[in-house]
Amino acid sequence: MSGLLEGLGARCPIVQAPMAGAGGVALAVAAMRGRAIGSLPCAMLSAEQVAAQVAEVRAGADGPLNLNFFCHTLPAPPDETAWRALLAPYHAEEGVMPGDPPPLRRPFDAAACAVVEAVRPEVVSFHFGLPEAGLLARVRASGAKVFGNATCREEMHWLAARGVDAVIVQGAEAGGHSGWFLGGHRPTPLAELLAERADVPVIAAGGAVDGTGIAAALRAGASAVQIGTAYLACPESLISGAFRALLGTDAAADGDFTNLFSGREARGIRNRLMRELGPIRAEAPAFPWASNALAPLRAKAEADGRGDYSPLWAGTGAARVRAMGAEALTETLAAEAAALMEDA
Ligand SMILES: Cc1cc2nc3c(=O)[nH]c(=O)nc-3n(C[C@H](O)[C@H](O)[C@H](O)COP(=O)(O)O)c2cc1C
Repeated sequence: MSGLLEGLGARCPIVQAPMAGAGGVALAVAAMRGRAIGSLPCAMLSAEQVAAQVAEVRAGADGPLNLNFFCHTLPAPPDETAWRALLAPYHAEEGVMPGDPPPLRRPFDAAACAVVEAVRPEVVSFHFGLPEAGLLARVRASGAKVFGNATCREEMHWLAARGVDAVIVQGAEAGGHSGWFLGGHRPTPLAELLAERADVPVIAAGGAVDGTGIAAALRAGASAVQIGTAYLACPESLISGAFRALLGTDAAADGDFTNLFSGREARGIRNRLMRELGPIRAEAPAFPWASNALAPLRAKAEADGRGDYSPLWAGTGAARVRAMGAEALTETLAAEAAALMEDA
C-alpha cells in the first residue's frame, strides 16, 4: 500500500468513485465498510445537503471519506432554440413539454468551501480542474488531501505543479464525464497515462471492474484505483431500472462519448437518443445546460422503464459488472487484486 493511502488510513487500494446522480450515502457507507475510500459526489448538492450527507456517512461507517466537487465555469443560460427544435419531435412523441429544470451542477465556491472546513473530510477531489488559489488554500488548511483529475499528460503536470496530493488519471475507458480542462477533449488510454512519469502519487480511473484491472493499474505504478462503473450494479446505487437492466449484458459494451445529456463529453452506453441524433451535436447547449430540455423526456421514459433519453454513463467494463452489495463487491475486488499481486 502506498504512503499516500497509509497516510489517509486507507485499508485497501480502492477509491469508490464519486458519481453524481448515481451514488450517494448508501453507496459510500457500504464501500467504506468494505474498506474502500468512500466518496460523496457534491456537484448537485447544496452546502446544507453536503453537511447532512457527511453526517449520515460518518454515522454509518469509519474510514477516509472523499468529497467531490466540479470546477467548471458556469456560463450564462444559453440560447436553446436550436436544441429545442432538434428535440421537438421527441417532446411531441412523448407528450411532454420542457418544464422545471433539474438541479444544476454548480462549481465549487465559497459556500462549498465553508462546508469542507466544517465537516473536515479526509480527501477533497476536484473534476474539471481546480478551484481558484484562495479556495484551494482553504481546502488544504482544513487538513484534507487534495486529488485532481487529469485526462492527458499536460493536465497531469499542470495539477502536479499546483501541489495536489494525488492525480486521478482518468483514461478514455472511464464512465461519466471526461474531466478535461486544458485544450479540449483528447481521450487517452489509461495505460498511456500510467506510463507517464509523474512526481505525485497517481490514482488510476477507467475500465477496472475486477481484480485483473486493479492489479494491472497497480503494477503500472498507480497507488490506488478509482472505480465507478463496477459500483453501478450494486443495490446501493441510485440508477434507474432501465439502466440497471442493461448492466452486465452484451448491450452494455456498446458505449461512446456523448455531449447530448449535459453539453460536455461523457462516456455512456448507447441509447436511442445517441443512435438517432449521433453522440456529439453542436446544438447541445454548453455544460451543464443541455440536461434541462431533456429532463421531462427522461422522466417520462424512465417511468415507462425506458432509458431512451437518460445518460447511461458507464465505462468500458459495463458488460462485465457483477450485481452484488457494495461492501461485498469492495472486499471481492480487493481480494482478487491482492491474490494477483502476490502471484506476480
Ligand atoms: C455514472 C457516473 C457518474 C460519474 N460522476 C462523477 C462525478 O460526479 N465526479 C467525478 O469526479 N467523477 C465522476 N465519474 C467518473 C468517475 O470518477 C471515474 O473516473 C470513473 O467511474 C472510472 O471509470 P469506470 O467507470 O470505468 O470505473 C462518474 C462516473 C460514472 C460512471
